[in-house]
Amino acid sequence: MKISIHIISALIACMTFLSGYAQSPSSLKDAAKGKFLIGTALNHNQILGHDTAGIKIIKEHFNAIVAENCMKSQPIHPQRDRYSFSLADKLVEFGEQNDIVITGHTLIWHSQLPRWFCHNEDGSLRSAEELKAIMKEHISTVVGRYKGRIKGWDVVNEAIMEDGSYRKSPFYQILGEEFIPLAFQYTHEADPEAELYYNDYNMWAEGKRNTVVKLIGELRKRGLRIDAVGMQSHMGISKPNLTEYEKSIEAFAAAGVKIMMTEFDMSAIPTERLTADLAEGGADPAKARNPYVDGLPDEAYQRWHSRMEKVWEIIMRHSDDITRVTFWGVCDGDSWLNNFPVRGRTDYALPFDRQHNAKPIVGRLIEMLNSK
Ligand code: G3I
Repeated sequence: MKISIHIISALIACMTFLSGYAQSPSSLKDAAKGKFLIGTALNHNQILGHDTAGIKIIKEHFNAIVAENCMKSQPIHPQRDRYSFSLADKLVEFGEQNDIVITGHTLIWHSQLPRWFCHNEDGSLRSAEELKAIMKEHISTVVGRYKGRIKGWDVVNEAIMEDGSYRKSPFYQILGEEFIPLAFQYTHEADPEAELYYNDYNMWAEGKRNTVVKLIGELRKRGLRIDAVGMQSHMGISKPNLTEYEKSIEAFAAAGVKIMMTEFDMSAIPTERLTADLAEGGADPAKARNPYVDGLPDEAYQRWHSRMEKVWEIIMRHSDDITRVTFWGVCDGDSWLNNFPVRGRTDYALPFDRQHNAKPIVGRLIEMLNSK
């Protein structure tokens, strides 16, 4: 029986359509669609368009971006009468051109803060009135410039310690706890549509968790907007305790805000090894600090992979309360963890390797997203 070529090509076309239709999404952002945004932090090489391999990954896998550094107060407002917006402008343009949601990071933070912001020329702390004026001018200028173009702002970053006390930053020394509601008020005035976030690391710590819950209540009591808390989620290979991490997600959701994993990465270098080897004395401290300089052994990768899965299981369990998961960098070579806590080490903290290849974890995260 002669089957015409037309029937065969029709069958092939139909099978191709069905396989394509039935095929699960093969990028992180497509697999997460309907659950939460998936983001990454851009460094200046990506913002300037030099890192073409990184940009390719960003466009394929991510629908949210944040500046790793260029929108912090020191880079963007180096002198009181001078702003430096060029990198921030390019980041926002990149987001808009690629239909990617943009987060502003970060308005009020004790680090990467120009000295003039909180200190007089003679080194003394500014008065409360002077600091309020500076905060209001900084926030209204930076937020106002991107009004309607940035979805949300990390208004205040890292103001609370693990024991629940307030960090004794210059902001706190001058204004006490008041600097936080003031920052949220000024940001809302500058862009009433923008979402407002409180962002911090080690949010699994019970003391910090409880104070953040109180802070959310205080802001709400004053009629101030707070949409979400950012759990930075800088993970170690053995810390934090994931039960405590999940308790914090539950506590923040119960406080009535959304949750974002805003700086998710996981060092593959065991910190306990760092201390043990150093304590033994005989170990080569340099090797203890940088054990995988020639590559990550398979069993170390497997340990990292399975812990990443455990964190992702928690995120999936709470996806109704989670609106964004942002990785802190695109590939291993970009990670700040290559310079923290030891400069010049080789870590393997992100889902894409130094050759810009997706590690097996990428397929696994997509599979987990598709399964829900
Ligand atoms: O831009 C200068 C460059 O001109 C100079 O030549 C070079 C010399 O070392 O330094 C460059 O500045 C560096 C900057 O990153 C930009 O690359 C700073 O030294 C370096 O300290 C800074 O590190 C950033 C760190 O924040 C500062 O605290 C990391 O890239 C960034 O990933 C990290 O991100 C923070 C979040 O914003 C808040 N949560 C914690 C997270 C990790 O610390």
